[in-house]
Amino acid sequence: MKVIRTIEELRTEIKHRRSSISGPVGLVPTMGYLHEGHGSLMQRAREMAGTVVLSIFVNPIQFGPGEDFETYPRDEERDLAVAQSNGVDIVFIPDVQEMYPQPTKTKVAVSELTSLLCGASRPGHFDGVTTVVNKLFNIVKPDFAFFGMKDAQQVAVIEQMVRDLNMDIEIVPCPIVREQDGLALSSRNVYLKPEEREQALVLSKSLKTALEQLENGTVETAGEVRELLSRIISESSIAVIDYAEVLSFPELTPVENETRLADSGSTTIMALAVRFGKTRLIDNALFQAKEGISHV
Ligand code: PAF
Repeated sequence: MKVIRTIEELRTEIKHRRSSISGPVGLVPTMGYLHEGHGSLMQRAREMAGTVVLSIFVNPIQFGPGEDFETYPRDEERDLAVAQSNGVDIVFIPDVQEMYPQPTKTKVAVSELTSLLCGASRPGHFDGVTTVVNKLFNIVKPDFAFFGMKDAQQVAVIEQMVRDLNMDIEIVPCPIVREQDGLALSSRNVYLKPEEREQALVLSKSLKTALEQLENGTVETAGEVRELLSRIISESSIAVIDYAEVLSFPELTPVENETRLADSGSTTIMALAVRFGKTRLIDNALFQAKEGISHV
């Protein structure tokens, strides 16, 4: 496994591998502090690509003022061990100076999909994401790029960007990975105090209950699902709901309260963002109307 810190060296190495090693190039973009969720992306990339590139870069332009850019957890030594054990070929770890030698005057912005959910509470966040993902795509020129469905809105936004800009890259969304007790894996879980960690289980509980009740017909409409999600999350005395939404996926159009989800004929996402103390967690589940397939 090669550890590369400059764009020039990375380009040379990828060119070399393209001419000497068969198979497509897969990119797993991350901000590090890797967990098993990232591990599942690397494994999927390993199955599909001849060369697997993992990028680790805490991207300053996707953090707003007062957010956790400075304190975002970092552990390079551990990350390299995780990358190695998941069969990564190249780890790209640029510093901020390498990625942004001057403040960027160009940004890539996707409209509409970014104005709601996390885009509403974190203005500018998705412009930072699409800009850096674009830069990484231009640097690595991958055939495939792998993203976790825990950030479902990010997946929808990046897929839209790839379509709109005719990028010759296949986005591969990978399922959410959860702890045994249901908590979705996230690098930010490390911030949770023990009581907050315990109470955060209301997120997966609310999604699981909603899916069960949709399947057995106890709830039917988007309004009933919104109500159920909020009620279960509020069982935690410390949970502060940012949103508990029901939308079509990947279009991210809010579903009207009266709409019966089983009849909607499309995929619905139940999307949550909730604060526990200083930590804001997100989680989601998809409900597939037609085939009755659903998963948390
Ligand atoms: O999902 C993340 O970790 C980041 O948003 C990404 C895609 C690596 C861009 O910085």
